[in-house]
Amino acid sequence: MDNRPHLQNIIDSLSAHVAVLDGHGVIIAVNAAWKNFADDNDSRLPEYGVGINYIELCAPGILDTHGMHGAASPNPVASDFSRQAALGIIAVLMHSSARFQLTYPCHSPTEQRWFLLTVTPLIVDDHRFAIVAHENVTTLKQREESITAALIGTVEAISNIGEVRDPYTAGHQTNVARLAIEIATVLGLSSDSRQAVYLGAQIHDIGKIAIPAEILTRPGRLTDIEMMMMRSHSRVGHDLIAGIPFPWPIASVVLQHHERMDGSGYPDGLQGDQILPESRIVAVADVVDAISSHRPYRPSKGLGAANQELESAMGLRYDAQVVTAYFSDSIQALARQMYDHA
Ligand SMILES: [Fe+2]
Repeated sequence: MDNRPHLQNIIDSLSAHVAVLDGHGVIIAVNAAWKNFADDNDSRLPEYGVGINYIELCAPGILDTHGMHGAASPNPVASDFSRQAALGIIAVLMHSSARFQLTYPCHSPTEQRWFLLTVTPLIVDDHRFAIVAHENVTTLKQREESITAALIGTVEAISNIGEVRDPYTAGHQTNVARLAIEIATVLGLSSDSRQAVYLGAQIHDIGKIAIPAEILTRPGRLTDIEMMMMRSHSRVGHDLIAGIPFPWPIASVVLQHHERMDGSGYPDGLQGDQILPESRIVAVADVVDAISSHRPYRPSKGLGAANQELESAMGLRYDAQVVTAYFSDSIQALARQMYDHA
């Protein structure tokens, strides 16, 4: 590279650990921070890795499967993060990605550390290089984790407030959350969506705080006005928490947990895709617990009745994929454990 000395000055000024890779993934330059980190962490790479293929270092054998390199056997022990990093670098070098980022753990024996890997292309005289930068984001990550923990604790406290006032449904929201998170996991939802499912389920009935206890617990039919009050709980719950800027759509999950796929639900009569996937999951878990649990004013109808309801309205009132996930072996085992003694 003609501008190597100039480039060296630039990368040395950065606090991130930077390596420049050629078009095959071989390290051709590293910065001062990279060298310092290697020295501090007793790296045994000769010349700080210069001359070594970084992609191979991350995931030995991976180049072979991407047609960039000679034969080598794939390394089954490369960590998932290393493998993702290798694939990201390949994508940048092969023009299929403009930039790649990955946050990964890099714990030392004495401290928990997190790094952000950023891979960007560098084009010099029609040759494509990649700049690989590792930035220590431990402080940010720890702050993010403590904020997330505080938010989860806040939602659980709100849930407890609702249940202290309405002991008749004590445990209902927790049961729904337990089932719903399992369904979300079987469906392979992202961790953000699973968080929305779990927390939305945990406070889905918080709006019942505004309904007189005698209406909540009275057996038998409700009058039209009482039914209207009862049905207001999803919007009341939504309005109670809508002002909190959660990073997950919890307020929408609360609002939509009585919506049904065929439009027969409330409060807005939404249909199909108008209902969040997270809300569809909570709706199914809610029905299971509502039918299977004992209430002081009526005995449990049993898990069999809950399963029958879901089976008969699968694809109509309830999302077919969600119901299929609910009927998976692992969730059925959990449901039997939760309700068969009920
Ligand atoms: Fe509800």
